[in-house]
Amino acid sequence: MERDSTMRQSVKYTFYKLDEIFLRLPEEKQRQAKLDFIDTVRTFNRRMLLRSYTLVGLRADVDFLLWEVAEEVEAFQELETAIRSTALGPYLRVTRSFLSGTRRSIYDISLPEDQGQPREEERIRIEPSDSRYLFVYPFIKTRAWYMLSQEERQEMITEHIRVGRKYPDIRLNTTYSYGIDDQEFVVAFEGDNPHDFIDLVAELRHTQASLYTQADTPMHICIAMPLPEMMDSIGGAKVSDLVQQDVTEVGGWLPVAQVEEVPAEGALLVYYGTQQVALFHTNGQFYALNNRCPHARGPLCEGTLHTNGQGPTVRCPWHEAYFSLETGEVLEGPSPRDVETFQVRVEDDTVYIARAEQPEPAL
Ligand code: FES
Repeated sequence: MERDSTMRQSVKYTFYKLDEIFLRLPEEKQRQAKLDFIDTVRTFNRRMLLRSYTLVGLRADVDFLLWEVAEEVEAFQELETAIRSTALGPYLRVTRSFLSGTRRSIYDISLPEDQGQPREEERIRIEPSDSRYLFVYPFIKTRAWYMLSQEERQEMITEHIRVGRKYPDIRLNTTYSYGIDDQEFVVAFEGDNPHDFIDLVAELRHTQASLYTQADTPMHICIAMPLPEMMDSIGGAKVSDLVQQDVTEVGGWLPVAQVEEVPAEGALLVYYGTQQVALFHTNGQFYALNNRCPHARGPLCEGTLHTNGQGPTVRCPWHEAYFSLETGEVLEGPSPRDVETFQVRVEDDTVYIARAEQPEPAL
């Protein structure tokens, strides 16, 4: 349980609608407002995982979505305050907002026929894929569902999982909202084909568990889009040609933390774009590794640090694979391969990381 509580994340789906009066502003004002919005949102990239999606032309009541994943809910509040303070802020309205958190499922999500296979990972850390679409809706079960025995519910969940397995390209992210928002869950499916999703949802309607759905609307189909292109999608002056690519898209150097934020002989979880990176601080040196252990995706930032003849190492907290902090090489344990390393550089008390193959920067 202790491990769970340190790994769990807060999740927010914030849907915005643009006031169309914005489109009547002079083009230069539109452009500046959009650039201000992009700059501001990007400054949060090192505090949270942020993904942008457009819904323009797909739903009347929303224009775009920011999918936000952070360690603390305060980050969501600070992001929203910052967005309101941009030049675009007065023209934006949050029309829907779903707050939730990750949690380990109380059900067995493997199937009887899986025996002997590696156990399917329960996602208590959100890690979006590169899917084109995100399908998001709030979800509430009837109270009668909670009166059923665990065995009865497990049987229905197993049926539900069996249907889901027929659609391997659809990836589910379920998060929990008990006590912190109006729905009980927020369900976000990632996929590349809306027709697969239609078929999946249609088939799920025929399962027993469907009898216990109290609410599962509104539904949103969201198209993944980098922030500048998403801003272009809302109409008005174009900005995507004017904005430099996000450094993480080209592998460049990204400031991820202040030196004092990284505990000595410890680690800090940071983001490089959408990728989780474990930033280690040991013996006065900083090292950065992909946070996901290649064995079963254990969180290396929660591992323990050691120094031996092979230099500084981290031991994965799940099954005790050891990795070199300097090279990412797997030195011991069950990991089938090395873990990705990042270059690290400290300048003016700020820690920067870049993909390992990048040349030295001019900071
Ligand atoms: S997850 Fe198994 S050793 Fe890391």
